[in-house]
Amino acid sequence: MRLAHCSDLHLLSLEGAGVLDFANKRWIGGLNLLTNRGRHHQSEIFEAMIEDLNQQEVDHILVTGDVTNLALEQEFRFARELFGRFSLSPEQITVIPGNHDAYVQKGAKHFGTHFQDFFSSDSAHASNETWPCIRRRGPVSILGLSTSLQTPWFTAYGVVGDEQLERLRTALCAPELEDTLRLVAIHHSPAEPRAHSRIRGLRDREKLYKLLEEVGAELILHGHEHLDLTASLPGATGDVPVRGIQSGTYDAGGGASHKRARYRIYEIADTCEAGKRPTMLGEELRLWDPAGKHFVQEETVRASGSVSASA
Ligand SMILES: [Fe+2]
Ligand SMILES: [Fe+2]
Repeated sequence: MRLAHCSDLHLLSLEGAGVLDFANKRWIGGLNLLTNRGRHHQSEIFEAMIEDLNQQEVDHILVTGDVTNLALEQEFRFARELFGRFSLSPEQITVIPGNHDAYVQKGAKHFGTHFQDFFSSDSAHASNETWPCIRRRGPVSILGLSTSLQTPWFTAYGVVGDEQLERLRTALCAPELEDTLRLVAIHHSPAEPRAHSRIRGLRDREKLYKLLEEVGAELILHGHEHLDLTASLPGATGDVPVRGIQSGTYDAGGGASHKRARYRIYEIADTCEAGKRPTMLGEELRLWDPAGKHFVQEETVRASGSVSASA
């Protein structure tokens, strides 16, 4: 199975936005857009990513939040239209919310309205009203958390919450998923030192660590930091890899490749021995090339440790 991971699209549409839309926390985000980082997120890059992904024969796409910038309804509508260009259906694409999608309280409602099909749980599992979403896809079970809530001004932290943690525990222990690779998708980085930040970290990370030590998981993918990050957390049957990724729409110019948009494809074995879980076979990184205005293969890593650079 080939599973692509991208994150932090920060798609912006101010079409029809009025002054009243900014009479809340959004004015800070609006200011941020005008002054620095926001200017470097380009929806054209996401359009190129969609075209590229449609050629890569992936089976599933995971997007770990911050689909929008200011949680305006027109941003969700714009994002949803773009997602319609994927050759995969919403059943084959999982989207979880980031803090920007919950920038103001209405954000969660808009996210639900426009992206419900992209996080609906399998009928055998939790109701669609609650997180995590639980989606079994081939050898992988995707357990998608929501850590996003409206936070006070100048903060961007996340919380899993005790009830969601209990539902996650149930899913991680579910007998019907015991032959799957358990992938926990989360917007906020759960690994130190990033998770520690009072401003933008994961407040109840210690509770998540305890759960992982008790019941384990095979892979955690996150966004939020706009950086490729590799870490691990102790799990019940071994360390759990934790991987973050740079934004899918970022290009600050200047050529520095670590500041350029990208996505990664993980290859996972379709079968496994009885009593075991499927393993990771390798991964590929595809990087935005601003000169060619397309994505190119940057690196391929096999589970054996061999690495091949871009063509
Ligand atoms: Fe972000
Ligand atoms: Fe974020």
